Amino acid sequence: MTKAYEIVDHVYDVLVIGAGGAGLRATMGLAVKGLKTACITKVFPTRSHTVAAQGGISAALGNMSEDDWRWHMYDTVKGADWLGDQDAIEFMCRNAMDAVVELEHFGVPFSRTPSGKIYQRPFGGMTTKYGEGPPAQRTAAAADRTGHAILHTLYQQSLKHDAEFFIEYFAIDLIMDPDGACRGCVAWNFDDGTLHRFIAHMTVIATGGYGRCYFSCTGAHSQTGDGNAMVLRAGLPLEDMEFIQFHPTGIYGAGCLITEGVRGEGGYVTNSAGERFMERYAPHVKDLASRDVVSRSMTIEIREGRGCGPLKDHIHLHLEHLDPAIIHQRLPGIAETARIFANVDVTKEPIPVLPTVHYNMGGVPTNYRGEAVIPVNGDKSRVVPGLMAVGEAACVSVHGANRLGSNSLLDLVVFGRAAAERCAEVVSAGAPQKPLPRDAGDQAVARLDKTRHAKGGMPTAALRLEMQQIMQNFCAVFRTGEILDEGRKKLSQVWEKSGALQVGDRSMIWNSDLAETLEFQNLIAQAVVSIEAAANRKESRGAHAREDHPERDDVNWMKHTFTWLDDKGRVRFDYKPVTQTTLTNEVQSFPPKARVY
Ligand code: FUM
Repeated sequence: MTKAYEIVDHVYDVLVIGAGGAGLRATMGLAVKGLKTACITKVFPTRSHTVAAQGGISAALGNMSEDDWRWHMYDTVKGADWLGDQDAIEFMCRNAMDAVVELEHFGVPFSRTPSGKIYQRPFGGMTTKYGEGPPAQRTAAAADRTGHAILHTLYQQSLKHDAEFFIEYFAIDLIMDPDGACRGCVAWNFDDGTLHRFIAHMTVIATGGYGRCYFSCTGAHSQTGDGNAMVLRAGLPLEDMEFIQFHPTGIYGAGCLITEGVRGEGGYVTNSAGERFMERYAPHVKDLASRDVVSRSMTIEIREGRGCGPLKDHIHLHLEHLDPAIIHQRLPGIAETARIFANVDVTKEPIPVLPTVHYNMGGVPTNYRGEAVIPVNGDKSRVVPGLMAVGEAACVSVHGANRLGSNSLLDLVVFGRAAAERCAEVVSAGAPQKPLPRDAGDQAVARLDKTRHAKGGMPTAALRLEMQQIMQNFCAVFRTGEILDEGRKKLSQVWEKSGALQVGDRSMIWNSDLAETLEFQNLIAQAVVSIEAAANRKESRGAHAREDHPERDDVNWMKHTFTWLDDKGRVRFDYKPVTQTTLTNEVQSFPPKARVY
């Protein structure tokens, strides 16, 4: 098969797939350590979806009010609805302050307090004194363009340290050797149509989430979870794929993100009666409850007939009471976005918003060093040689059943750095590569070739839309067994039909039809495991709200789900207990309790 294509071979110490915040932090860290590193990315690095992150990055710097990383850890454990691994959460929260100061030193232009410190705003679920004190001002921000600032800075730092980039290269599949070790990947260069085999001692997946399984999401069109799907095709599992976060404030109709920072700066949501209904659902912190709580409350208001607009199908987000100077200084990006996508002047009128798919808590199972793991013997796991994952593609698991806003940018840089440091421990620069089987990469090329010549008559866009509508309607904010089962049936029909796709363009150069079809194949695999895992988990926890199982069930379900997918679209499950012990004795673990805000 490979003979039909020109294949270019590359050998590196480490390969990073993806150039968002996590991929770039890993790439930069690897280059600093003197490891020969290639970063391949299907979009130009500064177009990666991290660029769209708005509100900020959490760290208990205590610049605006008293704070403690242990309070941050408690909030994260609670936000995760006790499905997060507490060793990993400790690692993230205790390293947060250094990670943010490091970003500052790299050149991130954070907003400032009058005394020149990094500005920090309140965010949902972030409290003080283990939930007993007032909301924490913990989210460090560069106005409402924090991701943009971080991404550009990390790209500049990577270039400074001579990391090598392969830009607009699409990763097709991992290369696994007969011993089950990852040895690199096969990628397609959009620009000249050539195929490439990247061989490395370690491959770091940093390909982000798969929000585009859904019809309406805050994520870029490129968010197709390519790395997750490659892992499934390599016969490895994904973890906790049932947990999909809806951000409360996506613009109605357009889906664009309106940062939680709006509520952090004093904004609030109302129903058609102008009522600030969050006072009923979260009396203590109101609009600053965690995202799953606010999204469910908004959905209930709409379902019970109190939605806004002629169709009573959305909610209003107000910031017109804020000083326009504050909006101009701290929220300029969302003012522009609201004007363009909702035709709203935020200084005069509310923004129409709706809960919108935003983040995937699940992904490639890893430990807190970034190493990919798979469960063995019920409660243990083993490292997959040669494979790591970081960022939204990974499930460490620090976000458990629900991520707190601003913990994502933190996750990217903390675990991007940790993965680079682990690589430096286990990979020797320039060490010779073991010989590869002669047919290494052939399967990936065969799949690409088959897809390129697909002539089944079914346009990719039509089938993708069908999948997105099924996920939107049958795997939503609220779920029941009956609705999920209907969705599963419909999705398995989409899976069947995906064998009869039509690719109209047979060229290899900038063939967007082929690229979108490969992305669709990635999306449908993740949609299937997500809906199957959602039907399988018979409890409500974090973002997974089952109306037919409304309570959290710690006896039977305080465990991570692992899902494997076979080539017929069938899913196999296994489980692993949640880690409830901490890494050090500087903090005690937090036992489960009822989650109220
Ligand atoms: O609302 C926001 O600014 C989003 C932040 C996040 O998802 O962490």
